[in-house]
Amino acid sequence: MRRLIFDFGSENVRMGMEGGRRPPLTEPAVVAHRVSGDVVAVGEQALRMLGRTPDGLEAERPFTRGGVRSQKLAEALLKNLLARVGGHGFRRPEIWIAMGAGASAIDRRGLGVLAQHAGAARVRFCSLSACKALGLELPLFQPMGSLLVDMGASCTRIDLLSLGHSVAHQKVEMAGDHIDEAIARLMRDRYNLMVGEATSQAVKHALLGDGADRATANGRDLVTGLPQSVTLERDEVLPSVALLADQIAHAVRELLRDVSPELVADLAGHGVFLTGGGARLGALSDMLQDRLDLPLHLDADPEQTICKGLQMALDPKYGTKLRTA
Ligand SMILES: Nc1ncnc2c1ncn2[C@@H]1O[C@H](COP(=O)(O)OP(=O)(O)OP(=O)(O)O)[C@@H](O)[C@H]1O
Ligand SMILES: [Mg+2]
Repeated sequence: MRRLIFDFGSENVRMGMEGGRRPPLTEPAVVAHRVSGDVVAVGEQALRMLGRTPDGLEAERPFTRGGVRSQKLAEALLKNLLARVGGHGFRRPEIWIAMGAGASAIDRRGLGVLAQHAGAARVRFCSLSACKALGLELPLFQPMGSLLVDMGASCTRIDLLSLGHSVAHQKVEMAGDHIDEAIARLMRDRYNLMVGEATSQAVKHALLGDGADRATANGRDLVTGLPQSVTLERDEVLPSVALLADQIAHAVRELLRDVSPELVADLAGHGVFLTGGGARLGALSDMLQDRLDLPLHLDADPEQTICKGLQMALDPKYGTKLRTA
């Protein structure tokens, strides 16, 4: 049976094929459906409909904060992805999913059931934090503490690993989306401009990903009701980044309070590893480094860390060591 690996994110779903001959496929985790429930578009096509749907049609994200928001929409998305690779020898595949330490048996069962409905023959779960450590090429099975911070769109997961296991974890219910929302609020309250999700995200990428000093957004003028554009300065969005950095630093301190001093001491030399799309927010990593006073390492391809690690976890040398069910 051929195997497929999945990283279900709230913004993106990534799917890799056993053998890794092709790079993992990344698809926006969005499904457009009628009020009746009929699915009309998934992925890239559905993403373009976000904020542009007429009455009777909705575009939604099926996953959030490491869990499933809508079983039915998640199943539709997965079915579509499986259909795309069905002709490449992956009909009725075994699928491997990375699940976080905080996921419950109910979360796992829900995902397992929907994956089987979508066409998977079998579902295997792997430790999410172990996959990240493998993807980061950390010494996973050594008695050494590694601190991983994964900042996605909907949440930030913090894990301390040693000897292949998560020793402690924390979750901050805030990540990249928080900055998009802050930018939209700023546009509305300071400049009377309503902007959509895609626009505020593009402004974030320009100011904080590319490091531009200013970025222009187009939207609807709240006074005239007509199209308008506004230019935002980088400094105006930094307070929202600082709030996120404060929350993450606070969660890291909470996590470290309850672990052995040996593991905490390991971090002084080893530092913190930042993954997920949020690792591309240059200002955030600078602020985190200041607040934690620890060396911070950025993955070169932070969105792919989990898939890379899952791909490695398929190696028979790991047997069932990384499996969580
Ligand atoms: N160049 C960039 N600059 C700034 N932010 C970026 C950049 N590229 C991606 N991001 C942000 O990274 C986030 C998406 O990251 P990722 O794909 O890891 O999330 P996800 O896995 O779908 O979400 P989650 O793990 O929270 O469920 C978004 O907030 C996105 O705007
Ligand atoms: Mg993610």
